[in-house]
Amino acid sequence: MTDAASSPDQAGDDLAFFIDLEPQDSDMMAEVVEGLSATPKGLSPKYFYDQRGSELFDRITMVPEYYVGRTEIALLRQIGAELAADIGPDATVIEYGSGASVKIRTLLDALEKPHLYAGVDISRTFLLESCRALKADYPDLPIGAICADFTRPFEIPAELFGDHWRLAFFPGSTIGNFTPDQAVDVLKAIRSELRPDDSLLIGVDLKKDRDVLERAYDDSQGVTAAFNLNVLHVINRVLQADIPVENFSHRAVYNEDKGRVEMHLVATEAVSFTIGGHDFSLEKGETIHTENSHKYSEEEFNALAARAGFKPHRIWIDDNRLFSVRLMRAV
Ligand code: AVJ
Repeated sequence: MTDAASSPDQAGDDLAFFIDLEPQDSDMMAEVVEGLSATPKGLSPKYFYDQRGSELFDRITMVPEYYVGRTEIALLRQIGAELAADIGPDATVIEYGSGASVKIRTLLDALEKPHLYAGVDISRTFLLESCRALKADYPDLPIGAICADFTRPFEIPAELFGDHWRLAFFPGSTIGNFTPDQAVDVLKAIRSELRPDDSLLIGVDLKKDRDVLERAYDDSQGVTAAFNLNVLHVINRVLQADIPVENFSHRAVYNEDKGRVEMHLVATEAVSFTIGGHDFSLEKGETIHTENSHKYSEEEFNALAARAGFKPHRIWIDDNRLFSVRLMRAV
């Protein structure tokens, strides 16, 4: 890991700070090679989000079948006044997985004079872009950017966030991408940037009907398919690989036992390719497991968060019981 804090000057504009903790490409090489050498083959969903992947994800949030983003935004709008009253003035807002532009604006608009916004994201380009766009809309709000893989513990200078109440914001049910054990670790990493009685506002998708879930991850316009396939383009570009992307297709299935939607890339014929000197081959029909999206009941998530040092404070659920927004307190 590199640990270089750059001055606002180097960030190239009026960001309060830019901290780059980006993992080296070699980490990605090792992880991808390991994932594709395993049985069954798998890839981490964090590699979806290059520039194009982030744009495709934005488009997913606009397809009718994908209720997640839209339902969460509606909830956030609805609860603004309650949130503001609960959190109070001058909060330091730390957003994990920055780029959820509408959601963070809804939150910032609801809060009373937020003190500072810090965005944390793995995609440097997208992070800086969204922080700069936010700065243009909130010129008086100090905005900082932290490029980091928050699936691993990371450290930032303690004085950055100051003495104010901290509100970690983790929207979009991104937490669902992790297995329950990994999710505990991610929440622990978030918890480590907070002090007792600081808050976590987190979007968590709920368990529901299989059809609704599977359609949400296989929309009729094929945007989710393009998003899934894009991870192969990312690997080809970043790791100079030669995966024949046209020989894969998208599959989404609800694994009820594990309480998660799984996305896979299916080889439509026998394929072989090379990544960093390693040869790989798939038989026709063999799959690469690219994403899990875990769905939790209210109680299941409370139990999970408790393991990371959070207790439930409030929960809001939409009328159709599709999605939950939860305010948790650091213990
Ligand atoms: C960004 C992880 C919340 O799991 O619903 C959307 C990603 N993948 N469609 C999700 C995603 C396919 C999304 N998260």
